Amino acid sequence: MNGICEVFRLNNGYSIPCIGYGTWQTPAGETAKNAVINAIEAGYRHIDTATVYGNESSVGEGIRESGVCREHLFITSKVWNTERGYERTRKAFEKTLSDLQTDYVDLYLIHWPASPRQFADWEEINLDTWRALIHIYQSGQAKAIGVSNFLPHHMRALMESEIRPMADQIEFHPGYMQRETVQFCREHGIQVEAWSPLGTGKMLHHPLLMEMGEKYGKSAAQICIRWCLQNGVIPLPKSVDRSRMAENMQVFDFAIADDDMERISAIEDFGGSGKHPDQINF
Ligand code: A2P
Repeated sequence: MNGICEVFRLNNGYSIPCIGYGTWQTPAGETAKNAVINAIEAGYRHIDTATVYGNESSVGEGIRESGVCREHLFITSKVWNTERGYERTRKAFEKTLSDLQTDYVDLYLIHWPASPRQFADWEEINLDTWRALIHIYQSGQAKAIGVSNFLPHHMRALMESEIRPMADQIEFHPGYMQRETVQFCREHGIQVEAWSPLGTGKMLHHPLLMEMGEKYGKSAAQICIRWCLQNGVIPLPKSVDRSRMAENMQVFDFAIADDDMERISAIEDFGGSGKHPDQINF
């Protein structure tokens, strides 16, 4: 891997830049707009947002004001849980396009699966939503489609569809590897993306990651990001700070040795955000 422009290839052949810029918890308005302008200026070409982040319009403004051609950017958004189902999802997608001021997204995801705990007909709901994404994909308004926070049992029914998910964006960082889901994705050619690759910041004080940082002359954040990449997972680090944005991209001038990769992967379950797809109540 040579740099931020390096791409992974989705199972439909579409290229996805190997590091994305996350915008979760970035407040709408000037903060999100400037964060996106700064991120693009720093070199990010892959921007990850979602309707529920409430910042799609500001992200759209940032993209437009960045001056970088649309076709040189990779934009992901996600349909929110209240908009599941065929018709609602299609409507929600139209609003996303209009808020982002674009006529296509590169990747459109179902943000969370409908779960058995919430709905008796959870599988049908997920399939209905997925049918909307297939329609959007076939219309050319999304270059790729996928899911987020789906575990293998949520994906199984979708695997029987004419178009299979191309990506699954899950919480993934040292101490929270979701091995079973990652394995399922690998077996089925589904690209894994990592939300909160730094454990929303809490992994940055972990003694082993700090030790690794010292060993490689890097920060713990850079170790987390590089570790994702070497696992074949696309990290989506979030920062509103210009120097940290730049720091999070500077992970191409070193490689973590195999035995150190193993040590990092062996970090005891550090706990994730606590948002389990089958237990959420939103
Ligand atoms: P900030 O936006 O002020 O930089 P994650 O991507 O895992 O959700 O983590 C995001 C959190 O980690 C944010 O609080 C962000 O704060 C912080 N963060 C992002 N990059 C770095 C970094 N390189 N060093 C320290 N903290 C960082």
